[in-house]
Amino acid sequence: MSTLLAQLLSDSDQDTLWIADENSKAQLKAGLPFRGTLLSNRWDIAQAAEQAGITALFSDFDLGAVERNFSRIVYPVSKEKAAVHHVINTAAACLHANGELILVGSKNSGIKTYAQKAAQRFGRGKNLQKHGTEYASHNQLNSDATLGALLDDSNYRTLRKLDPLNGLFSKPGLFGWNKVDVGSAQLAQHFSKHLPKTPFNALDLGCGFGYLSIQLAHLNPDAHIVATDNNAAALLACQSNFDASGIKGEVIAGDAGAQIASGSVDVVVCNPPFHQGFQVEGDLTDRFLAEAARALRTDGSALFVVNEFIPLARKAEGLFRDVSLLEKAKGFCVFRLAK
Ligand SMILES: C[S@@+](CC[C@H](N)C(=O)[O-])C[C@H]1O[C@@H](n2cnc3c(N)ncnc32)[C@H](O)[C@@H]1O
Repeated sequence: MSTLLAQLLSDSDQDTLWIADENSKAQLKAGLPFRGTLLSNRWDIAQAAEQAGITALFSDFDLGAVERNFSRIVYPVSKEKAAVHHVINTAAACLHANGELILVGSKNSGIKTYAQKAAQRFGRGKNLQKHGTEYASHNQLNSDATLGALLDDSNYRTLRKLDPLNGLFSKPGLFGWNKVDVGSAQLAQHFSKHLPKTPFNALDLGCGFGYLSIQLAHLNPDAHIVATDNNAAALLACQSNFDASGIKGEVIAGDAGAQIASGSVDVVVCNPPFHQGFQVEGDLTDRFLAEAARALRTDGSALFVVNEFIPLARKAEGLFRDVSLLEKAKGFCVFRLAK
């Protein structure tokens, strides 16, 4: 956990905006005192903040839509360059005159380069301070609010149709945004054999831009599909793909599907997350499995794909009546899990 971040947040007043992606989860869990507002692109983090009594906003880092201005923005830099550049580009939209953006990061986060780029954007000299193994880059707005050139953020906010995704919409800020995941493609090859031929209710757990939902809908256009993800960018892209493809169903924000009614779906499809930002959150596969089992009807089944080194069969024991390995190839394992 970042001690520099903890110190900056504890020292903050109500006029501080904390931009928090998944890397800020440890700070929230530690229950540090924070009196400002939190903005996260992760639904679970926004929820956890609200439960801790912190005012929270959930969006895809949409700083232009924040309805008030702050004297300070504190941002532990994200892993994705496009997201960091987007925040640096748009921070001024919700800063008071003379307000400052503070970027926080350790050496391997790219903080030194970001400090230089933020200084260019804010039209000031670089102000990078070292605190033990961490750095804080301070960037104060000029009193006349003039800004330097925009950084290349890969058009962060723009949804786009991508040829490698067969024309599906996607955008930066979501997992593997510009390619079809090898594991997901492998999983989808098993759909025609293992899915009901009659209309069914499906849950796409951790839907990303909705690749698995689209494959389900191609095979059975009458399927009703609920797609859920924790990530704001994923939800935006997935909703656009549902709309463009006329999929019956809905796209909802959620944490590992916890808000899906128990026993409500016939089929779960899932390529669970493994890496979370700079950390690896060990229990995510377990939570996805447990929520899939809970959401399924008694005769329902789930199709999962995981990296081959994840002991899914062992983790699924006790949750499912039957666990069958359908395929092991290209570093992935595809399983059918019957309730
Ligand atoms: C390996 S990707 C699969 C994406 C998509 N299903 C596909 O096949 O392209 C895992 C997805 O899980 C999402 N995710 C991560 N943590 C989550 C959580 N706690 N609740 C719901 N979704 C989560 C990620 O945002 C990501 O979209």
